[in-house]
Amino acid sequence: MPRRRVEPLPASDAGPGLDVSTVGAIVAADYHGEADLIAVLRRAQAEYGHLPEPVVREIARLTGIVESRVFSAITFYAFLAERRQGKFIVRLCRTISCDLQGKDRVARRLENELGIGFGETTGDGMFTLEWTNCLGMCDQGPALLVNDRVLTRVYAESVPGIIAECRHVAAAPARRSEGGASRVTTSVPSATTFSTVEAEAGLKAALSLPRSHITAVLSTSGLKGRGGAGFPTGTKWDFAVAQQSDEKYIVCNADEGEPGTFKDRVILSESADLVFEGMTIAARAIGAREGVVYLRGEYAYLRPHLEAVLAHRRRHGLLGTNVLGVDGFDFDVSVRMGAGAYVCGEETALLESLEGRRGTPRKRPPFPPVSGLWKKPTIIDNVETLAWVACILARGAEWFASIGTEPSRGPKLFSVSGDCAAPGVYEFSLGITVFALLDQVGGAGARAVQVGGASGVCVPASEFGRRLAFEDLPAGGSVIVFGPERDVLAVVCNFLEFFADESCGKCVPCRIGTKRMYEIVKRITSGEAEMADIDRLERLAAVVKRTSFCGLGQTAPNPVLSTLTHFRHEYEERIVKE
Ligand code: FES
Repeated sequence: MPRRRVEPLPASDAGPGLDVSTVGAIVAADYHGEADLIAVLRRAQAEYGHLPEPVVREIARLTGIVESRVFSAITFYAFLAERRQGKFIVRLCRTISCDLQGKDRVARRLENELGIGFGETTGDGMFTLEWTNCLGMCDQGPALLVNDRVLTRVYAESVPGIIAECRHVAAAPARRSEGGASRVTTSVPSATTFSTVEAEAGLKAALSLPRSHITAVLSTSGLKGRGGAGFPTGTKWDFAVAQQSDEKYIVCNADEGEPGTFKDRVILSESADLVFEGMTIAARAIGAREGVVYLRGEYAYLRPHLEAVLAHRRRHGLLGTNVLGVDGFDFDVSVRMGAGAYVCGEETALLESLEGRRGTPRKRPPFPPVSGLWKKPTIIDNVETLAWVACILARGAEWFASIGTEPSRGPKLFSVSGDCAAPGVYEFSLGITVFALLDQVGGAGARAVQVGGASGVCVPASEFGRRLAFEDLPAGGSVIVFGPERDVLAVVCNFLEFFADESCGKCVPCRIGTKRMYEIVKRITSGEAEMADIDRLERLAAVVKRTSFCGLGQTAPNPVLSTLTHFRHEYEERIVKE
């Protein structure tokens, strides 16, 4: 899209005391088309501290995007704000793993120390205090985000030091901000597969094959998407191969927002090359020239690392023109930032966001391999899936297919958090039982585990013999362990609050249904409900599941339904008998 001419707004139109001249420079530097709207808004917010109306109008005028669309994007994303915010935006994770690790004590201490409540800004304009949802640091909670810096294992006692550091050093504290602290442990005593695969062996193998054979290798391996949906990767790629288009895209979904999931953060920290290699193999297979990593806003601190890895790959001929000397094979990758929206992990919502709009899901079909980014054939794969692609091409389909169960081939990374001795990222063969996993992570004595994050299911101890596999307990990779003392209803309440907050609002069942389910469970936990409320909750959960537009609403009732199945007596015990 051609760059627009930039004309600064006359001062008289800009609002009293607000100089919007910087907007012109931001737009001139960062805006090349509609897809850059979110990036421009993020830059403008960093400059002005928030996005006041005159700034928004100036952005709309300079980009030619209608004002209502710019405003609608701002009101959608958690990290964009119309109201003035403090120099330091302190966001405390309120999601389940941090909740289990004592986030409430940290919250009270933050309020006392700053003299404000959540959602407020200090009088001196230094601090804004906000709740946030999962930061992908669930094995190291409670977690806090101070501007773009993430702090882990933040206890009430740590709060004064963090605040003092912000005040006196005038910069967000730097400690534990790299996200690399999480161990990658493995059930195989040596190392994870990712760390043992020879660099670029997969890409070289792919380039030695006829292009049409690459997807066949993936199909033979049995690889299914590691983001949770479990669709066969080779089949998905075949759809994109079959499309006649001179413009195709590869998108890496790095919007890991499911509570309790942090394996992609670890992969991007430690094995980013493997992910980019997988994207390059995908590009070779379907004939794409452009790849995009959609990185969640909460992982902004990873971006410099990813850009450095990409630059290194360009220098070594692994990206750019004639990749590895192959005539006509041109491919490059850019990193685009999300701005705080769980629903953007849904692939069509992600595409909307990449095109510069609110991240609301699209109607399917058509599916992205047929009509995706800019309505062109697009492969969207999860971070882990792309890393396995590189491993499979390097080691062979038979190696991968020999691991796991018949319907669930290969190894898988699991994010384990909650009440266990050794939370972290683990590699296990698919098909491992919950018992065996708990044994490895020090989770003996657990009363239940939540498999697949908030949108997954709660598994009671009596079913720990079940397998983590597509045919039994499908898991995007999150396992949250609940010890013997945990209150199952408090967990459900936490999940429902999360969904009510993250619903994109596009469809009524999800927008209203998640809130009503939350209210009912809250009433039950506080002893204000009647027996009929349990039936009401069950019926409502079934309706929301059946009638919601996208996966968010269709899976939000899962924690309710699975706990009503296995822990119904705990709901009933909370009902005060007349
Ligand atoms: Fe708090 Fe994931 S970082 S629950």
